[in-house]
Amino acid sequence: MPHLQIGPHTVTPPVVLAPMAGITNAPFRTLCREFAGGRGLFVCEMITTRALVERNDKTMQLIRFGPGEQPRSIQLYGVDPGTVGKAVRMIADEDLADHIDLNFGCPVPKVTRKGGGSALPYKRHLLRSILREAVGNAGDLPVTIKMRKGIDDDHLTYLDAGRIAVEEGVTAVALHGRTASQHYGGTADWEAIARLKEAVPEIPVLGNGDIWSADDAVRMMRETGCDGVVVGRGCLGRPWLFGDLVNVFAGSPERTRPTLRQVAVVMRRHAELLGEWLEDEARGVIDFRKHVAWYTKGFAIGSQARRDLAMASSLAALDELLAGLDLDQPWPAGAEGPRGRTAGAKRVVLPDNWLADPWDVTAAVTAEAESDTSGG
Ligand SMILES: Cc1cc2nc3c(=O)[nH]c(=O)nc-3n(C[C@H](O)[C@H](O)[C@H](O)COP(=O)(O)O)c2cc1C
Repeated sequence: MPHLQIGPHTVTPPVVLAPMAGITNAPFRTLCREFAGGRGLFVCEMITTRALVERNDKTMQLIRFGPGEQPRSIQLYGVDPGTVGKAVRMIADEDLADHIDLNFGCPVPKVTRKGGGSALPYKRHLLRSILREAVGNAGDLPVTIKMRKGIDDDHLTYLDAGRIAVEEGVTAVALHGRTASQHYGGTADWEAIARLKEAVPEIPVLGNGDIWSADDAVRMMRETGCDGVVVGRGCLGRPWLFGDLVNVFAGSPERTRPTLRQVAVVMRRHAELLGEWLEDEARGVIDFRKHVAWYTKGFAIGSQARRDLAMASSLAALDELLAGLDLDQPWPAGAEGPRGRTAGAKRVVLPDNWLADPWDVTAAVTAEAESDTSGG
C-alpha cells in the first residue's frame, strides 16, 4: 500500500481527513478512524492561534483528542508571526499534538477583508515570517501548510508559497485546487496540484478538492503525481469513505454501500459520541442536526422525516424517528455526489491596495482577521 511521510509519521494509506470547522471534532474523527481501521491522518478543526495562546475555554476543549488518536494533528490559523510562534511553542512544550498544520485557505470575506485566510499568502514576506516562526518553535513536530491556488486566476500564489514553504523547512504542503474567488464552485483544478508537485520536489504534496469516492483519490494521485490526498466534503455523512479509501489503496474492489438501516446505526453512534464529547446528550444531538441531510441524501424518507430528524434533541427522539423510517432501503444512486458547501464564485474582498505589492516587507494583518472560525 502506498504511504505518505509527514516528518516522523508514516501515513498508510496516504489519506488525510481535511480539517473542517464545526465537523472534524473528536467524535467525527473517531468514526472516520474506526471505518479506516485506525489508518490515515485525521486533522482536528481549525484552531485560531490567538485563542490558543489565551487558553480560551472553548479552544482548549476543541483540541482534546480521543483515546487512541495517534498522531494527534492540530490545524492552526494565525496571521501574526509572533502569535503563531507562541501557539506552536505551547503545543510543542505542553505535548498537545504530534503534527501541526497551518491554514492559509479560508475564503470568507470577513477574513480576507483584513488580509487573512487565502489573501495572506499574497504577501510573500508575511507568509515567510509566519512559517519561520512556526517551524522555529515546533521543536521536533512536523509543520505542514494547507492553501488554495491564490486569490483569483490573475493572482495565483501557490507556487511561490510552495517554494517559501520548502525554504522555511515546512514538511509537506496541501493544495485545494481552487482560488479564493471560486469558493466551492466549479471543479477543483487538479492540474495545479501537478504543477505544485513539480515546483516542490523536495517535500510531499497533498492534493485536495472534489474527492467524492475512493476511486477519485486514486485518480487524483495518478493524474497529478501527488503524494497523498486530503478528503473533505466527500466524507460528510459518509465516514465509511475512509474504509473504502483503505480498500482502494490495498487494491480491493470492496466499497461500502450501506442500507438505510446501516446508515441509521452510524447516525445514532455519531450523535451519541457527540453527546459524550460535549458531556451533554441534548447538545450532542443538537450538534448532530447539521449532519442529518448528508447522511440521508438520496434515501426516500420524505422532507418531513428529514425535518423531524434535524429537530431532535434527545437520543430517544432520534431513535424513535430513525425506527420509523423504511430502513430496508438499499444504497440509492442519488446518494453519490456533492454535499456540503457548493456555493460558487464570489468577489474576494481585500484590504485597500492589497494587490499593489506582493513583496511589501511591511505587510501585516490585524488580529481581527482571526475572529472567524469557519475554516477553508
Ligand atoms: C464545512 C467546512 C469547513 C471547513 N473548514 C476548514 C478549516 O477549518 N480549515 C481548512 O483548512 N479548510 C477547511 N475547509 C476546507 C476543506 O478542508 C477542503 O479544503 C475543501 O472542502 C475542499 O476539499 P473537498 O472538495 O474534499 O471538500 C472546510 C470545508 C468545509 C466544507
